[in-house]
Amino acid sequence: MARRTIGIVLNGVTGRMGYRQHLVRSLLALREQGGLPLANGDRLYPELVLVGRNEAKLREIAERHGLTDWTTDLATALARPEVEIYFDAQVTAQREKALRLAIEAGKHIYTEKPTAEDLAGAVDLARLADAAGIKHGVVQDKLFLPGLLKLKRLVDGGFFGRILSIRGEFGYWVFEGDWQAAQRPSWNYRSQDGGGIVVDMFPHWHYVLEQIFGPVKTVTAHVSTHVPTRWDESGAAYDATADDAAYGIFELEGGVIAQINSSWAVRVHRDELVEFQVDGTEGSAVAGLRNCRIQHRASTPKPVWNPDLPATEDFRAQWQTVPDNDEFDNGFKAQWELFLRYVAEDAPYTWDLWAGARGVQLAELGLQSAREGRRVEITELS
Ligand SMILES: NC(=O)c1ccc[n+]([C@@H]2O[C@H](COP(=O)([O-])OP(=O)(O)OC[C@H]3O[C@@H](n4cnc5c(N)ncnc54)[C@H](O)[C@@H]3O)[C@@H](O)[C@H]2O)c1
Repeated sequence: MARRTIGIVLNGVTGRMGYRQHLVRSLLALREQGGLPLANGDRLYPELVLVGRNEAKLREIAERHGLTDWTTDLATALARPEVEIYFDAQVTAQREKALRLAIEAGKHIYTEKPTAEDLAGAVDLARLADAAGIKHGVVQDKLFLPGLLKLKRLVDGGFFGRILSIRGEFGYWVFEGDWQAAQRPSWNYRSQDGGGIVVDMFPHWHYVLEQIFGPVKTVTAHVSTHVPTRWDESGAAYDATADDAAYGIFELEGGVIAQINSSWAVRVHRDELVEFQVDGTEGSAVAGLRNCRIQHRASTPKPVWNPDLPATEDFRAQWQTVPDNDEFDNGFKAQWELFLRYVAEDAPYTWDLWAGARGVQLAELGLQSAREGRRVEITELS
């Protein structure tokens, strides 16, 4: 059993996602377990090069975790021959430029979503990456969450019969930043800085719908900026120019209708921050990040509409919990492992820059639908 190292440049590790999910929960966790076991018995050990704009912050993170390699010079990091993978978790607006540099340098690419700010850029990246012969992957973390894995298990096992509809509810109250600090970065609320809930969340909804239920054929969306003024990290008021809520309807191949509300201006009266209810002829399910509950056709109650009487049944109690039947690791780490195996031993991997571009396409067409007040067809990318 040999130890094989793999050099990975991590750009954006001072950010929320880059630090917590990708560095700490994924790559450092892999190092702590002695590396990733490969099919031939070797262990793949990530050697990390932290890249960012602020040397002091990088040094502080590196020292906190016993790392020694960091730089503010991306080009020099990409020129190092032992670096095989470039990973990007920067703000969205900085991504395309950096991915282009990494592709030119011949590195494999793994990146947060959205892959670019517009479809043309996202498609161009996918084409360039293919032409360069590098391997590429895009974070699609929701697919690796226990709740959605159980939902996919139900679909694959034929639980639903014919699937009719999907209702998704995502969101929570993001504080404005005046009397309580906002829990998300301010760039998310400025469209000129790559913000907006459609650009942020529609790429997620695209892969969730496509991978679990089938291709998305049309989109109809209404977007709003419910909270027009917010306060940034330094306490200064700014105009929220980006959408903070999106109400979308998506038609899938085969006629399944998905309707997903996404909002940073809603208070949670749900069990989890995102939940999808799927209704089928044989049964229904409600899946969140971790849990999944089902109701079979045979145990479906027969409510009768009568507003004169108080509800006679505890509807929530009539659902059954889907058992884990498995051990679930952190979703980001699970996908990192798949990508690393793809690079190191050519294991199967499908969540690439083309899948990322289809997510960007859904966001772009969703915004077009909202602007024009109409349903928009989604054409296949080539
Ligand atoms: N997969 C997911 O569930 C998920 C969740 C949230 C965010 N994201 C994506 O991850 C990316 C980062 O989001 P985040 O919430 O971690 O953001 P963040 O603001 O916390 O971090 C942004 C990172 O980009 C760096 N950066 C580089 N150039 C910058 C510039 N000009 N201005 C500001 N920061 C700059 C920052 O230093 C920081 O390291 C976004 O593209 C976002 O869409 C993904």
